[in-house]
Amino acid sequence: MTVIRQYNEKDREQIIDLWKTCNLTRPWNDPNKDFDRKNGVGEDLFIILEYENKIIGTVMGGYDGHRGIMNYLAVSPDFRGKGFGKMLVEEVENKLKQLGCPKVNLLVRSDNVEVSNFYESIDYKKQDDVYVFGKRLIADD
Ligand SMILES: CC(C)(COP(=O)(O)OP(=O)(O)OC[C@H]1O[C@@H](n2cnc3c(N)ncnc32)[C@H](O)[C@@H]1OP(=O)(O)O)[C@@H](O)C(=O)NCCC(=O)NCCS
Repeated sequence: MTVIRQYNEKDREQIIDLWKTCNLTRPWNDPNKDFDRKNGVGEDLFIILEYENKIIGTVMGGYDGHRGIMNYLAVSPDFRGKGFGKMLVEEVENKLKQLGCPKVNLLVRSDNVEVSNFYESIDYKKQDDVYVFGKRLIADD
């Protein structure tokens, strides 16, 4: 049976292992620091999916008072194609709506065609007329 719930500190190791398995970690983003930074910042939007006490999915949502965002959407390779990714996205969407959040954005690496297809299949639209700007404020190394 699957359970969808808010993350917990005791889940840290399994969650980071899943992110690594799903190729979501990058040398310039320490996943432990990303995990720590979520503590106290909209923790209820950091959702995990469990199957028989094993974590098989995650999504880390956020809301800045204007727009929502989703990071670290991951489903364990053995459990893909069963609707779990969509379920995790919908869980965050519902929580964002409850907060009055009108719109959600997310970033997909331009070479990640499969994930772009996934988002398009669940009604997310690519915004061709927008550039994403970023600036590193704190180095993780
Ligand atoms: C993206 C990801 C979370 C999708 O999870 P999933 O559980 O396999 O997705 P679902 O089964 O919920 O699929 C939902 C819909 O997307 C479609 N879909 C899923 N993967 C797809 C793909 N690779 N190409 C095209 N469509 C896809 C499904 O067909 C389904 O459509 P339907 O509702 O019409 O049947 C999973 O592939 C993953 O963890 N990828 C690696 C991590 C990653 O890159 N995350 C995104 C970071 S931006």
